[in-house]
Amino acid sequence: MTYLETVADFYTEVAETPSVGLCCVQSTPLQLPGLEIPASMQEMNYGCGTTVHPAELSGEPTVLYVGVGGGLEALQFAYFSRRPGAVVAIDPVDSMRQAAARNLSIAAEENAWFDPSFVIIKAGDAFDLPVPDDSVDVVAQNCLFNIFEPEDLSKALQEAYRVLKPGGRLVMSDPIATRSIPLHLQQDERLRAMCLSGALTYEQYVQRIVRAGFGQVEVRARRPYRLLDQKNYELEEHLLLESLDSVSFKVVIPEDGPCVFTGKTAVYAGAEDYFDDQVGHILQPGVPLAVCDKTAGKLGKFEEILVTDSTWHYDGGGCC
Ligand SMILES: C[S@@+](CC[C@H](N)C(=O)[O-])C[C@H]1O[C@@H](n2cnc3c(N)ncnc32)[C@H](O)[C@@H]1O
Repeated sequence: MTYLETVADFYTEVAETPSVGLCCVQSTPLQLPGLEIPASMQEMNYGCGTTVHPAELSGEPTVLYVGVGGGLEALQFAYFSRRPGAVVAIDPVDSMRQAAARNLSIAAEENAWFDPSFVIIKAGDAFDLPVPDDSVDVVAQNCLFNIFEPEDLSKALQEAYRVLKPGGRLVMSDPIATRSIPLHLQQDERLRAMCLSGALTYEQYVQRIVRAGFGQVEVRARRPYRLLDQKNYELEEHLLLESLDSVSFKVVIPEDGPCVFTGKTAVYAGAEDYFDDQVGHILQPGVPLAVCDKTAGKLGKFEEILVTDSTWHYDGGGCC
């Protein structure tokens, strides 16, 4: 049996018998005015963060949602697009697709604005997305890609890149590990399926995204997710997993490297009226400018510039 078959068996189980709190962080799902989330859908919240960021869902984008789960985020995306077929949600697990379809019809009874035709549920998997090249505005996945072994993760990222329109966004939420997860846990297929042992470190995760071709990565949130404790997981010391919400853009990787925004800012503290690095960054005295980590590194070499730490929350503005 391959690990992907174990994953499919596991998600058949949790589609048929919901497992409350399987992956989710201790927070209620994003509530929106006029959105009723059916209880059966909430019970199947198997995400570890959120991929639905209202501020970037203007213009009724087309969304390809990978790994539908109970349909919660497909419904939240549909809230913004509100037209037939705008959200295509795929999943290779029959029972999961059936559960999502059931939950979405309940949602239609509880939400006057929602029609089940807004979400098309299709059989499919992350390695072979059933849509043409350059065809969708947003690809989203929540708590799925961390399950994949590294080479499969790269395949899934390349597939997301293929189907996105130029400038399109890959929105993800996944656990990451604060240090490498030991092999005996990585090889435990059930733990992997439960999103507990496949996580990469932050650096490895971002590197894979960039290697797939994404030129800009923005971190929306990073927070504690689960503790793998020393005793139960046979570790030398406790290992904290975090959950990382990110948005990666299908834009060309700049010659001097990708733009990765983690919430750093640069502040000019010199005596001149402003600071101009001649490559697009103009700093006003005392006013923080959001910058990517690459630029933060360059500007931080100037004595009169203070670079602030990553807040792990960035949602636009500033320069690469
Ligand atoms: C941890 S759950 C997350 C569900 C949903 N995204 C959520 O936030 O509630 C992972 C989902 O991915 C599906 N899945 C498993 N293997 C997959 C694959 N190779 N491609 C796409 N989806 C897959 C599972 O059936 C399940 O619905």
